[in-house]
Amino acid sequence: MDRIYAALLRLYPRRFRAAFGHEMAEAFRLHRRELSGGASRAGFTARSIADLLWTAAAERKDALLSPREAPMLATDVTVEPVPPIARKPLTPEQHDVSRRQFLNRAWGMSFIGFLGLFGMSSLSFLWPKLTGGFGTKIAAGDYKEILKAVGPKGGYTPLFVSQGRFYLTYYEGSGDSPVYSIVGAMDTKIQALYRKCVHLGCSVPHCSRSMLFECPCHGSKYRLHGEYFEGPAPRGLDRFPVEIVDGKVIVDTGKLQVGPPRGTNTWPAFAEAHGELCVPRT
Ligand code: FES
Repeated sequence: MDRIYAALLRLYPRRFRAAFGHEMAEAFRLHRRELSGGASRAGFTARSIADLLWTAAAERKDALLSPREAPMLATDVTVEPVPPIARKPLTPEQHDVSRRQFLNRAWGMSFIGFLGLFGMSSLSFLWPKLTGGFGTKIAAGDYKEILKAVGPKGGYTPLFVSQGRFYLTYYEGSGDSPVYSIVGAMDTKIQALYRKCVHLGCSVPHCSRSMLFECPCHGSKYRLHGEYFEGPAPRGLDRFPVEIVDGKVIVDTGKLQVGPPRGTNTWPAFAEAHGELCVPRT
């Protein structure tokens, strides 16, 4: 390796000096004999050669280090402390602007929050309820207790379920109309009658004297089991399917069934009024 450096120095003295510096070249020349006669030449690397050159130059105390070579000695690096940044105090005008900005942002955030709440409440209002409301399956209560309340022991008194807008009534007729088997009245002995009058939609109350459902709007009347009795209504009351699940009465208010047509009379026990009418005939 020293021969290569010596040949380079001999062949390209200017470039060699330009690369390593004049003083480095002189130092290499002084130590050439030491390099050629000492340790294994094959072990020399460019870095070790540079270290030797550096040591030689330092011994001569006349080596001139350029700033480019200085990073090789980490101990020579000096770090100057950075002076702290002096912050200017805010002027009153700047204080006013910050307050205004704060208020503007507070108003903006409040408005956005209001819009978000309004949007969510609107969506929840428009979104269809999938459980627990009208239009879904509703658990009306224990089957045996309901049967007891609306049946013979309870005086055949209908039970109104406001959540589903229907009356639960007892039924023990012949079932000579398709709707009775559709809503399960023949199996359960219970019907769920929609309280909406099929004439023009008024709510129809039950009259405990006549045992009829009597509409106060135009006088339509329906029997206990929802069949047409008299008045302008075109048919009997509409109704919902009923099923018994685990001893509970489940009414599907999402599947409205059209009531039986006029002239249907399937239960003679309630074919006529049992007493005075609540809504007199006009
Ligand atoms: Fe019931 Fe007209 S709305 S009779």
